[in-house]
Amino acid sequence: MRRTQFLSTGMRVPDRVVTNDDLAALMDTSDEWIQQRSGIRERRWVAPGEAGSDLGAEAARMALERAGMEAEELDCIIVATLSPDHFFPGTGVFLQRKLGLRGIPCLDVRNQCSGFLYGLSVADAWIRIGQYRRILLVGAEVHSTGLHRNDEGRDTAVLFGDGAGAVILGPAVDGDGDPGRGVLSVRIHADGRHAEKLWVEAPGSATDPFVSHADIDGGLTRPAMEGREVFKHAVVRMPQAVHEVLADAGLALDDVDMVIPHQANLRISQAVQKSLGLPDDRVYNNIQRYGNTTAASIPIALHECVEEGRLSVGDLVCLTAFGSGFTWAGAAIRW
Ligand code: ACO
Repeated sequence: MRRTQFLSTGMRVPDRVVTNDDLAALMDTSDEWIQQRSGIRERRWVAPGEAGSDLGAEAARMALERAGMEAEELDCIIVATLSPDHFFPGTGVFLQRKLGLRGIPCLDVRNQCSGFLYGLSVADAWIRIGQYRRILLVGAEVHSTGLHRNDEGRDTAVLFGDGAGAVILGPAVDGDGDPGRGVLSVRIHADGRHAEKLWVEAPGSATDPFVSHADIDGGLTRPAMEGREVFKHAVVRMPQAVHEVLADAGLALDDVDMVIPHQANLRISQAVQKSLGLPDDRVYNNIQRYGNTTAASIPIALHECVEEGRLSVGDLVCLTAFGSGFTWAGAAIRW
């Protein structure tokens, strides 16, 4: 069976830059508190009317251009998001329409910060069996409209940002001297015992009606997080996922050229780096500029890593994620 290769990457973040000082004008927080706890200096927020599918479509157009492809050459779309444009249908169909496409399948993946790697796992399987040849995989998030930008919401409002990243995946074409490019292993995991440790309770069909004024007044529509629990689990699961995919591929940490962790929090990335014993130049972080963009963070970071010339053909790249659910995942890729 063929391996899956990354053919191109793209990204789009909204134009509006929101600094920590901007947030301090809206809620009781400070640049110092935010940078110390999370490393974040600024993030992007959408303009009125700008949706996750708009950001995703822009990121997709960039990836198509980089791949030298027309949108019509895509035969499948997978969109990972925890902040869909609407309750239903999924963001994928809106993105498909914005790309001017019809007929091809659109799969929405709801696995939060691990969503991009869950999507990669599905895409990889489909490409390996020959089901599809050109898959657009997008992570797209608009957090700003759902955050409570006031004192009550400050614990999460300072962490999250808006943005989208996209990749185009296809079967690897082996040529002479080819280093065996493509996805070597993807592993995905979940442990639902921790579902309520990072969640948005309402709206949801588990209650009748699925959203009420009391839910809104009681703050149930804003993200609720047990920050220390998230931290504790993330710093164990993310390195574990890296070790797992490397073992699958018969490779070791010494072989790794770049680890791109989900950009949850700079402190989490630093703890992951320490646990893996890797130097600074082998772990990529850009949360300082975008905040935590959940399912979009890995493809955005991957794109910037590529654009900065930090990945060469044949490099070994590991992606690792952890998020609400709890879910976690890893991937090893020969670039
Ligand atoms: N500004 C200023 N003060 C704040 C803010 C804020 N934005 N938010 C909370 N505080 C206050 C709290 O109210 C608390 O005050 P108190 O002591 O008077 O009660 C104080 O700061 C300390 O709060 P803690 O929750 O104890 O702060 P902690 O040191 O644990 O840091 C943090 C919180 C940054 C969330 C930390 O737990 C953490 O890094 N957790 C990891 C979770 C994370 O990063 N999630 C990202 C999203 S999830 C994901 O992508 C996997």
